[in-house]
Amino acid sequence: MDLIVCVGDHCHLNGSEMVVRRFQEMLKDAGLGDRVTLKGSFCLGDCSPRDEVAVRLGDEVLHTRYQDAEACFREQIVPRLGTGREDHHAEPTGER
Ligand code: FES
Repeated sequence: MDLIVCVGDHCHLNGSEMVVRRFQEMLKDAGLGDRVTLKGSFCLGDCSPRDEVAVRLGDEVLHTRYQDAEACFREQIVPRLGTGREDHHAEPTGER
């Protein structure tokens, strides 16, 4: 799946370069580099009125401030990838 960070004028001014760097690190750390291709794009046509960077994953465009790139990755991107990396807690059965 492609993860596309907008590097158009508006998003560039809002720190898209830092979002790209942070996503690169996080993809590597999460071992998702073989499943997700990080790309840049000119304006995605969804400039945020706030100081945010647009990010496209599949058909969806998300927005994040560069300071929140890590949380965006963890909370919005990883769940959409269906990685099965959510925490699964073993249910104690009490039976033996
Ligand atoms: S410049 Fe990024 S969505 Fe328009």
